[in-house]
Amino acid sequence: MTLQPRPGLMDIKPYTPGAAAPDGAVKLSSNENALGCSPKAAEAFKSSAEHLHVYPDGGASALRDAIAKAEGIEAERIVCGAGSDELLQLIGRAYLDPGDTVVQTQYGFLVYRLVAMQSGAHIVSAPESNYTADIDSLLETAKEGAKIVFIANPNNPTGTWVPDSEIRRLREGLPEDTLLVVDGAYAEFVKEPGYGNPLKLVDDYENTMVTRTFSKIHGLAGLRLGWMYGPKDIVDVIHRVRGPFNVNLPAIEAGLAAIQDAAFVEDSVNHNERWVGQMTQSIRALGYEVTPSVCNFVLVHFPETLGKDAMAANAFLAERGLIVRPVQPYGLPNALRISIGKDDDNRRVIEALEAFAKA
Ligand SMILES: Cc1ncc(COP(=O)(O)O)c(C=O)c1O
Repeated sequence: MTLQPRPGLMDIKPYTPGAAAPDGAVKLSSNENALGCSPKAAEAFKSSAEHLHVYPDGGASALRDAIAKAEGIEAERIVCGAGSDELLQLIGRAYLDPGDTVVQTQYGFLVYRLVAMQSGAHIVSAPESNYTADIDSLLETAKEGAKIVFIANPNNPTGTWVPDSEIRRLREGLPEDTLLVVDGAYAEFVKEPGYGNPLKLVDDYENTMVTRTFSKIHGLAGLRLGWMYGPKDIVDVIHRVRGPFNVNLPAIEAGLAAIQDAAFVEDSVNHNERWVGQMTQSIRALGYEVTPSVCNFVLVHFPETLGKDAMAANAFLAERGLIVRPVQPYGLPNALRISIGKDDDNRRVIEALEAFAKA
């Protein structure tokens, strides 16, 4: 007899990652760091090969201390994970019961849906305005007792952000026992005044936590390393549901080196800032709408006209060795998400889109 999984699990659509790039093609489908990773982190990763026979420190203490020092926060309230994905999953495992409600923004990161469904919870999306989280709509959607509200600030795949004052208004308007998870995967890229420091929210409110990642600004996506900062009671719970050695030893050592390499972080931010502006301007000049982005990608909108639509553009770019991300699964069938790449890759994207627009 076929073994039956828990009800609802077979309704989950497995997450489809950004397409891999065939030999010679450029991968701009997963918002990875265009500059690679810190050379110091790569060196630390190589040195870790000397002691792979040893279990990692299950509490990742040295890494948590380094993050705490860099961010000016308490090390005891940090938990590290195998990517922030793992931490998002652990939050669901710890707090969601079947039938609970989880609220996200209309174009929220797909993993929130997985987290909800894995626990048998319902996910409800709050309509956005102009591809941007709308706090009133989130409050309205969450008022019937949402267990968790997820908001990525800034958000993937839209690239938009909301000011700290708006996140505070959200927190203050939510029921006190609703857990607010602010996903800061792209936080380091944001230089807008008004964005604030999301980690401060954790100190100022109960039942509020922030997740962060080494995958984007530090360019360590392949190692799977993320962290969360939360109130003591939630941190205590997450430690109970995580695997004893959930972060591997090379990730801890590379992460330690990465967090101390401020020069690499600065280079990454500068490269990104320059190219997000340039890509937005150049693609708009071709007649396409580009959602203003503070992340390391841009969301480009195409007309519905057959042959001129997003899927045609996707195929056109792929034929030229440029692999980008269709965002149909997010409910954006007429858009493509294009990660910022190296100088040459970005120029190639602009040229290819120009050729597509003229074709
Ligand atoms: C908004 C958002 N949150 C979380 C993640 C997960 O990052 P990771 O698991 O690599 O830390 C991503 C990755 O693309 C993301 O876009």
